[in-house]
Amino acid sequence: MTTGSAFAPLRIGPLTIDPPVVLAPMAGVTNAPFRTLCRRFSAQRCLYVGEMITARAFVDGHARTRHLATFSAEEAGVPKSIQLYGTREQDLAAATAILVGEEGADHIDLNFGCPVRKVTASGGGAALPLRPRLLARLVRAVVTAAGSVPVTMKFRIGIDENLTTCFDAGKVGEQEGCAAIALHARTAAQLYSGAAHWDSIAALKRAVTSIPVLGNGDVFEAGDALRMMRETGCDGVVVGRGCLGRPWLFRDLCAAFDGAPVPAQPSLFQVREVLREHAALLATFFGERIGLLHVRKWTGWYLRGYCGVRRVLDALCRVSTLEGLGAILDAFPRDEPCPLASLRAKRCKGGQTQQVALPAGFLTARFEDDAEVAGRDDCADADEAARHGG
Ligand SMILES: Cc1cc2nc3c(=O)[nH]c(=O)nc-3n(C[C@H](O)[C@H](O)[C@H](O)COP(=O)(O)O)c2cc1C
Repeated sequence: MTTGSAFAPLRIGPLTIDPPVVLAPMAGVTNAPFRTLCRRFSAQRCLYVGEMITARAFVDGHARTRHLATFSAEEAGVPKSIQLYGTREQDLAAATAILVGEEGADHIDLNFGCPVRKVTASGGGAALPLRPRLLARLVRAVVTAAGSVPVTMKFRIGIDENLTTCFDAGKVGEQEGCAAIALHARTAAQLYSGAAHWDSIAALKRAVTSIPVLGNGDVFEAGDALRMMRETGCDGVVVGRGCLGRPWLFRDLCAAFDGAPVPAQPSLFQVREVLREHAALLATFFGERIGLLHVRKWTGWYLRGYCGVRRVLDALCRVSTLEGLGAILDAFPRDEPCPLASLRAKRCKGGQTQQVALPAGFLTARFEDDAEVAGRDDCADADEAARHGG
């Protein structure tokens, strides 16, 4: 069945995603509670990628990593998707086998876009596509271990404007059996600054013709997604920061792709109820104490731009029980319409750029040397990844 819009559903191996919209993997964000909320707003129609976990930590049985890789009861029966990070074939293959065999994952995404300094400095993350032969081995190991479960890759344009890697990475994805690829249309040097280069998505789409190409970067409102599809010809959109504190963006996206009017943005009181629901889900998933620590991060995103809450934001960031949170929310003085200007405000990540650190000699013999990455395999130190992402 096609959407009411001009765009075909997205096919990722056996999965059909209609509308062609994917929740971006975001460390510290796209855990089961947030995915559940996004799913509720969009009748489960999109694909919701779980936050990145490190293959080695997962295989070693680290409790926190294992917990993050679980799915909520509401996710039963709909595609369960998770992102993996690793630099060793054996770790990635073993983690994939467990995720598919025991956790029932229906989709594995691979993160090759992490720009964290200590990760690229040892040849991992966004540096990996500089070594296409090594990249190919890693992807092959996961595709083999995943069997009939589709595997996708997410990566950036390249290291910086002089060192583009996305075309090599795309070719690896095609040749090694990926079901789709996604481009975060920035370089690692850019981090999250400036506008995403949608023209690179268009160029990659022209170069990669045998599997779907997804575009990622700067979809803040539903109309942005349609524009990205039209302007780049991509097969689907991956939505990151735009949905932070705005899980109803997936409802809006469904409407826009269906050709229906985008619903009005929620008022402060409506947002308050979503925040309350999100807090309850976080408390159930992490336990009340840790769950409420997570809530601190979310309050600023949910309440961004509303004038009437400035004075209570501090209190919301100190609260440690659901009851206390409820009391503060109940005391909001008055309702307010959504401050529309805040929709496009970047809810996370500053405007810094960086000089990307690479191991000494990494740029010589890029295509011949397929040795393993020497160093770290811990991009998914979740706190660090939450700060730097992919
Ligand atoms: C808090 C946060 C955490 C992120 N963590 C990851 C991650 O673990 N893996 C990944 O591939 N990208 C990660 N990213 C990057 C996003 O998936 C996405 O590529 C990026 O935010 C650009 O899309 P946007 O402009 O829609 O936000 C993260 C982004 C944010 C804001």
